[in-house]
Amino acid sequence: MKPDIAWPRNDYSRVPFWLHHDEDIYALEMERIFRGPAWSYLCLEAEIPNPCDFRTTWVGDTPVIVSRAKDGVIHAFVNRCSHRGAMIVRELRGNAERLVCLYHRWCYSNAGELTGLPFRKGLKGEGGMPEDFDMKAVSPQRLKVANCHGMLFGTFSDRAETIEAYLGEFGIGMVRRFLSRPVRILGYSRQRIAGNWKLYAENLRDTYHASLLHEFFVTYGVDRATQKGGVKMDARHRHNMNHAYAGSDSQEEAKAAYADTAARLDRMQLRDKKLLNYKNEFPDGMNLAAPTFFPNALLIQINNTLGTRQIRPKGPGAHEVFQTLFGYVDDDEAMTRHRLISANLVGPAGFVSMEDGEAIEVIQKATRSSPEGCEVIEMGGRGPVADQAHRVTEAPIRGFWSYWAELMGVEPAGGIR
Ligand SMILES: [Fe+2]
Repeated sequence: MKPDIAWPRNDYSRVPFWLHHDEDIYALEMERIFRGPAWSYLCLEAEIPNPCDFRTTWVGDTPVIVSRAKDGVIHAFVNRCSHRGAMIVRELRGNAERLVCLYHRWCYSNAGELTGLPFRKGLKGEGGMPEDFDMKAVSPQRLKVANCHGMLFGTFSDRAETIEAYLGEFGIGMVRRFLSRPVRILGYSRQRIAGNWKLYAENLRDTYHASLLHEFFVTYGVDRATQKGGVKMDARHRHNMNHAYAGSDSQEEAKAAYADTAARLDRMQLRDKKLLNYKNEFPDGMNLAAPTFFPNALLIQINNTLGTRQIRPKGPGAHEVFQTLFGYVDDDEAMTRHRLISANLVGPAGFVSMEDGEAIEVIQKATRSSPEGCEVIEMGGRGPVADQAHRVTEAPIRGFWSYWAELMGVEPAGGIR
C-alpha cells in the first residue's frame, strides 16, 4: 500500500495534519518503522544486571520482553503467548528462571523458547497435544538486540543496518556521554498523552518551544534561547541533539529577549531553591542535553536529572511516554537525593513535562477537523536541513519527517534528506 500524501513542499516545511489522525497511516508506521528496519530503544542494560532478570517493554505497539539468560546473553522476544496470544509477563521487571503465561501455564525460557505446557501428553491416555507438536516452531518471534554502551536497542528486521551505522558516530557519542559510568536506576514514570506519537517525536526535536511553553524554564533560567547552544543531527538527520550550556546567558539578556513574549522573569520566586541547584558533571559543560533517537527514544539531562524516555504509540490518537530516571553507582547519597529532587521537573506531574502533554493534546483536538490543513515548520529556515549553533529553529523536525517519509515509502519528488 502506498498512501497518497500530497506534500505541499519537498522540504517538509508543510506537514499535513491528517498524518496524526489516520488509522491506515498508523498501521503502516507499525509495519514499516517499528517492525521495519529502524532500531527501537528497549531499556537499559542496568535494569537487567543478573542472570534471569527480565524487563517488559514495547516496540511500537508490540509488547516485548527483554531478558538475560543464565549464560548472561541478552534476548528480546515478543511478549505474547504462542498458544492463545495472552501477554506472558505483566510485571515491569523481575527475576525468574521460567516465564509462565497465566492463562494455560505455557512456559518459556529466558531465551524466549517455549519449553513446556501442561497436559501435553494428555491425561490417562486421553487428550493432549498431537505427537508431532513442535514447540520450537511456535516460539515467540525474536528481535535482534544491540547493546550500545548499556543502552539496549532491538529490531524485527533482517534488513536493519548495524547499530553503529544506524546511530552513527554522533549517536554513539551521545550514548557514551550519558552512560560512561555504571548506572543506578532511580525510578520510573509514565505519562499518557492523548495525541499522536509523532507529536511527541516533534516535541523532542523542537528547541523553539522550550523556553516559551515552559514558564519554569525561562523564569528560572534552566533553559532559555539566550543560552549558548544549538541543534546537532546525524548525517541522515533522523536523530538530533538539542543542547545548551549552563550559565551562558544573563538575567538582563534574557529579560530583553523575552520582552515581547508572555514570559515574566520577575513574577515568581522559589522559596526553596533546591530545585535549581546544579552541579556540573560532564566535561562539555552542558546543563541541558537531549539526544533523541529515531523513532522512539530520548536520553535527557536537565541540570542533574538524567533519564531515558521511550515513546509507546497507543493507536493514532494516544501514546505513552515511559521514563527511566537514573544516576550513577558512584553517586553519594547527597547526589542521589539531589537528582530525585530535580526529578520534579519531569514526569506526568513535573513542572515541565506536563506542559508538553497539554500542548500535544490541544493539537490533536484542534487538527482533527482539518484534513486539508498543514503544520508550518519554517523556523530556522526552509530547504536543506543542517545543524545550527542556536536554538531558534525547527530544522530537526523536518529531519524527522524526511526519514519518516523514507521508511514509509512516501517521499515527495526531490524530497530532501
Ligand atoms: Fe517541552
